[in-house]
Amino acid sequence: MTTFTKLAAGETPLIEVDARKKLSKIDPMTYGGFTEHMGRCIYGGIYDPGNPLSDSKGFRKDVISALKDLDIPVIRYPGGNFVATYHWQEGIGPREDRPKRPELAWLGVESNQFGTDEFMQWLDVLSEGKEQRVEPYICLNFGTGTLDEALAWVEYCNGMRDTYWANLRRKNGHPEPYNVKYWALGNEVWGDWQVLQMTKEDYAKKAIQWAKALRLLDPSLCLILCGQDGQSSWDHYVLHECIGWVDMHSIHIYTASEDHMKNVTAPLSAERSIEITASLIDLARIEKKIAPTKPPVKICFDEWNVWDPERAPGDKGAEESYTLSDALAVAVWLNVFVRQSKYIGMANIAQSVNVISPLMTTKDGIIKQSIWWPLQLFSQFMRGWTIACHVSGGAYDGPTQPAWLQGTLGEGAPWLDVSATVDDKGYVSLAVVNTNEIDDFQVELKGVGKNVTVYKVSGEGVTSGNMDGKENVGLKEESWDGTGKFTFPKHSLTVLRWKAVYSG
Ligand code: AHR
Repeated sequence: MTTFTKLAAGETPLIEVDARKKLSKIDPMTYGGFTEHMGRCIYGGIYDPGNPLSDSKGFRKDVISALKDLDIPVIRYPGGNFVATYHWQEGIGPREDRPKRPELAWLGVESNQFGTDEFMQWLDVLSEGKEQRVEPYICLNFGTGTLDEALAWVEYCNGMRDTYWANLRRKNGHPEPYNVKYWALGNEVWGDWQVLQMTKEDYAKKAIQWAKALRLLDPSLCLILCGQDGQSSWDHYVLHECIGWVDMHSIHIYTASEDHMKNVTAPLSAERSIEITASLIDLARIEKKIAPTKPPVKICFDEWNVWDPERAPGDKGAEESYTLSDALAVAVWLNVFVRQSKYIGMANIAQSVNVISPLMTTKDGIIKQSIWWPLQLFSQFMRGWTIACHVSGGAYDGPTQPAWLQGTLGEGAPWLDVSATVDDKGYVSLAVVNTNEIDDFQVELKGVGKNVTVYKVSGEGVTSGNMDGKENVGLKEESWDGTGKFTFPKHSLTVLRWKAVYSG
């Protein structure tokens, strides 16, 4: 949580950090990814057989090596909208027997050459050298899929007994179960673009019946309910009905605007959504008399990012070309997750490669887009606990996107959007986004140590980007002795990091 006071023009801005005031634990799952059978995410992104840059399994080595730097804890798969007509059994077994199918979400053809086993193998490679593996998170087909198929998928992945689907996994070369813990009960089932869109009443009934059966098969599953944007009657209703059956509630929001200030303030609408969803969860618990000892349902923000589907349409691969403005918007998104860590059980940037992604592939290599840098800095440093923080400074109070956001901002959106953390080793990290396109801010910092390492992400202007193959938006590392005022340059993200020294 960060509090804010608006200062009169000319007064010195101030940021106070108190590393002793740990507010809530940041779930490592906050820095999750997402790979969907969409555009060039799987085919040509993570899986590119025949390319000299790929290994013997067809996995792009340059992609794996880059993604390792993001230290991703969990990856959602195989969609997204794609999953609504996906039959997972068609993507296992000998490749030559796998059928090609018309794909109805993005209107392509699914070759089924990459399926469940390949996804698990890819995660194994991505997990090499890590203390904890990258967890798989599978979304079930609530469109044309059946409960039988869903049960079979869980049995194929997790079965340890002498049963048909577990044996088929063994026959396909995988004797050990994959132990997939995270399963989503459908994706955006409320949307009119879905194959088999549902009403909230029908969805809630079906979600409960599926949850019951899935838990009978494997009581250790973490089941994720399909919410909307966290602020709708769908969210209200399905949470009320299903609260006793699920572990997390999924919400999706994409933000974007060509107007820089609208673009960088739009993620604050997601902050409001998180607060609203958290209240809906509390309300459902009260109404359904859930035992107070039962752990609260957490929010699974399993699709978030900057995306304008008109600018980068889904059926054309959604290849957004990101700017510095977008990188700052992503930094504000990540500040939101840190500030609201009390409620976040998982978050997944949509998506991890090529499709609305920080990482793009060409036949000859990779490009790290502008939004790569905030993601890497947050994943590397903004872990542990959210700590108390107060900002005094100026604020933007102009029009926002969505328009309703402006009416909720009170004193406006601080020019300096801030979050702070302390990790298990006592390192404090302070992330400051200066959203102002014109002004640098000289700021008095209280509670900051000596020997501060400074990481800065910026570029020449808010429209700078990296898709020309040059690193026009990049990361610079400096040091600061912690004395005097600190200048946060215009249109930049700065992460300050120091070892906490507590006195008294
Ligand atoms: O991430 C791209 C798409 O956006 C997903 O398939 C869908 O769930 C959302 O609408």
